[in-house]
Amino acid sequence: MTTIIEKREYLRQRSDYTYKFNTSTGRHGWLRLTPAYSLKIVEELISRHSQPKRIFDPFCGTGTTVLSAVYHGHEGVTTDINPFLAWFARAKIACYTPGEIANARDACAMAISMAKKKASGSAPAPPIHNIERWWAPKTIEFLLRLRAALAVVAEDNSPERNLLTVAFCRSLIALSNAAFNHQSMSFKDDKQLPLAMNYDMAAVFASGTRFVLQGASENPGGHGTVSLGDSRYMPDTAHGFFDLVITSPPYANRMSYIRELRPYMYWLDFLMNGRDAGELDWKAIGGTWGIATSRLADWERPADCFRHSPLENVLKKIASADNKNGLLLSNYVAKYFDDMWMHFQGLTRALAPGAVVHYIVGNSTFYGTLVPTERLYAEMLGRLGFTSVECKAIRKRNSKKELVEFDVSGTWRK
Ligand SMILES: C[S@@+](CC[C@H](N)C(=O)[O-])C[C@H]1O[C@@H](n2cnc3c(N)ncnc32)[C@H](O)[C@@H]1O
Repeated sequence: MTTIIEKREYLRQRSDYTYKFNTSTGRHGWLRLTPAYSLKIVEELISRHSQPKRIFDPFCGTGTTVLSAVYHGHEGVTTDINPFLAWFARAKIACYTPGEIANARDACAMAISMAKKKASGSAPAPPIHNIERWWAPKTIEFLLRLRAALAVVAEDNSPERNLLTVAFCRSLIALSNAAFNHQSMSFKDDKQLPLAMNYDMAAVFASGTRFVLQGASENPGGHGTVSLGDSRYMPDTAHGFFDLVITSPPYANRMSYIRELRPYMYWLDFLMNGRDAGELDWKAIGGTWGIATSRLADWERPADCFRHSPLENVLKKIASADNKNGLLLSNYVAKYFDDMWMHFQGLTRALAPGAVVHYIVGNSTFYGTLVPTERLYAEMLGRLGFTSVECKAIRKRNSKKELVEFDVSGTWRK
């Protein structure tokens, strides 16, 4: 039985339920990902369940769920398709000794001094398209010298190096022309450009390092595991049985995580060219960047896809919209739900009896056609045998009245 709880007239945008709540909260604030959810949502859900033993997040992102789980002393397990995010979440849940934190502080000072004196040479420039659109030449030069110095002052993959690399990531965004006025990253207009400002770049890195080390000193009590994997193919990705799932999957809104994360991914060698970026986005649920878009044009639904007449109606409406991309976007939406259907089917094999799942997800619109993602998830959970399936509206996403975020929950019957 599915209950839809949607008191939309009382819904607010609730910035405390978005990434904004995390920005000044220790490790949760280390790096920004606009579609990250708030640790407040996760903590409210964890505290509602009396004794969760193993908490799982199949769509890790910046690791909000796994970090909250381990801070509450639980076991947290998570997975993501994106290697940068898997690296980052591991750095976030690691335990750091006072000695490692002190070493990282000293290494930061040493790296700054070497970069200023040009003592460690320069790292190769990241192969990101149009690099000068992102950073002023002076900034690129500083970042390349700093990157080379970090390789000298801290061993690859050491705790110190990971902490300084997080601080480096904070700095490269702080010193860039990236703007966050919209859901996805864009560029600042001329008046906002840091190129025009006289930044003390070393001070930006030093202050980023202080922020990261403050968070590093707050060690979690629980055990966490982060794996790189594809959550459409559970349980290859998951290890063991879970009794609580708290997650926020990609939305069917064409947001590309690779596009959003590309500055970090190119600087840290997780990406070498645009082709690889498109390939990775094709594997990501809801990704449509580069090659991923062209592949969608002739993609066909598999025989065992998710068939449901309200979804078929939505797909037909989008396909017949008065727009040249109607068919492409209808394929996009179909593939999104087929991928999520694969995920939900596999998930059931990794759940303990009585496990509770919470999917925080927003609906979307294409050419005026509403895609009721929450109801389609609820239908999938119901078909798989989950009980007490509920869709609860939790916040308005922006000024458009119809765009809402939901908590879709259910209890595994067996
Ligand atoms: C909405 S974000 C999660 C945000 C996260 N809750 C946070 O607070 O940062 C969705 C995540 O799903 C990941 N993802 C997309 N397709 C995936 C797949 N097939 N398997 C695993 N992860 C995937 C994306 O890389 C992205 O990090």
